[in-house]
Amino acid sequence: MATSLPSTTHEIMLTDDPAGLPGPEHFTLAERPFPVPGPGQVVVRNRYFLVFPGLRTLIGGQPDGVPLPRINVGDTLFGPAVGEVVVAAPGGPFRPGDMVTHLLGWREHALLAAADCAPLDDALPDPVAQLSSGSAAYGALTRLAQVRPGETVFVTGAAGGVGTLAGPVARLLGAGRVIGSTRSPEKAERLRAELGYDAVVVPGPGRSVDEQLAKAAPDGIDVLLDNVGGEQLTAAVRAARRGARFVLIGALAGQLAPQGDGGSALAEIDTFRLVNQGVSLYGYSGQDHPEVTEEWTRRFGGWLRSGEITFPHVRVPGMERAARALQELFEGRHFGTVVVELPPR
Ligand SMILES: NC(=O)c1ccc[n+]([C@@H]2O[C@H](COP(=O)([O-])OP(=O)(O)OC[C@H]3O[C@@H](n4cnc5c(N)ncnc54)[C@H](OP(=O)(O)O)[C@@H]3O)[C@@H](O)[C@H]2O)c1
Repeated sequence: MATSLPSTTHEIMLTDDPAGLPGPEHFTLAERPFPVPGPGQVVVRNRYFLVFPGLRTLIGGQPDGVPLPRINVGDTLFGPAVGEVVVAAPGGPFRPGDMVTHLLGWREHALLAAADCAPLDDALPDPVAQLSSGSAAYGALTRLAQVRPGETVFVTGAAGGVGTLAGPVARLLGAGRVIGSTRSPEKAERLRAELGYDAVVVPGPGRSVDEQLAKAAPDGIDVLLDNVGGEQLTAAVRAARRGARFVLIGALAGQLAPQGDGGSALAEIDTFRLVNQGVSLYGYSGQDHPEVTEEWTRRFGGWLRSGEITFPHVRVPGMERAARALQELFEGRHFGTVVVELPPR
């Protein structure tokens, strides 16, 4: 439905360079005049935007090799968003009322070139599911790990946006045993009860990851989907079976460490074991597999409609709570994907 051009809008702006992890004190909710759209531009009223750990790396860090710009003091945050077109030039590809996805989240209204928006079709039953990071898990499993029927899969960071889909998707692709990790005993229970994980490793003081993994996977693991790195990757290498495929999707142990700039993640691994067991180690980047998104969206939509999968996510209402939601994500307080939801108008 058409609405008029906003005169002002609200955005989450970085106001200070954090020494460690950014918190709400490093952001402000700024009111800004909204510019008049130029030729070929559209105005989108955002309905949902993603709260994601990569922001830590982009804020004041040195995102070497990361295909997104650094966020400096005075910049508005950005990231995946879903919204409704409210102003579009006649003759362009969009009409007011169209739902689109784009990369200018963290603001009420986005001004974009029409070419930087992608239309939403009805592949997914709910537009918010468009913000799922499940395509990374699906791409890693199908393109690199090539999981085979009956195999044992270990997913680190299993309670996050990627991990809550990685386990169920691995199962749908034929995995025989699916093991996850989370630092929270409560989330471990949810992974077992709600998402069908067979066993969950809970790292923490006095709790050996090696011992827990040996118990969870007595015959070792065939596939690792690693979102965390650090001691969990160290332990996974020790548990690797012959011919195992390890796919590194993220590195949260370094990315969200209070010290450092969130742009590196060191881990000690037994390379002799990699050699002897013939283990393959891959880094997954969505950029290298551009065809995955469409395939994932189609299959995800089918699995959601058939009830074979769910989309675990938390909707945080309102711009006012967005900065706090990022801190909560860093603290591991949520289960699944975290999105900020804005009112329709
Ligand atoms: N390669 C790609 O194409 C691609 C695409 C999307 C995302 N990613 C990356 O994949 C990773 C996972 O993303 P996500 O969206 O699933 O993240 P997320 O939703 O923020 O999940 C974070 C989970 O990681 C755990 N965690 C947080 N800090 C940790 C720490 N210091 N040490 C160990 N675990 C920690 C928390 O688990 P517990 O509190 O439960 O322990 C939390 O549930 C990130 O590194 C992200 O940048 C990569």
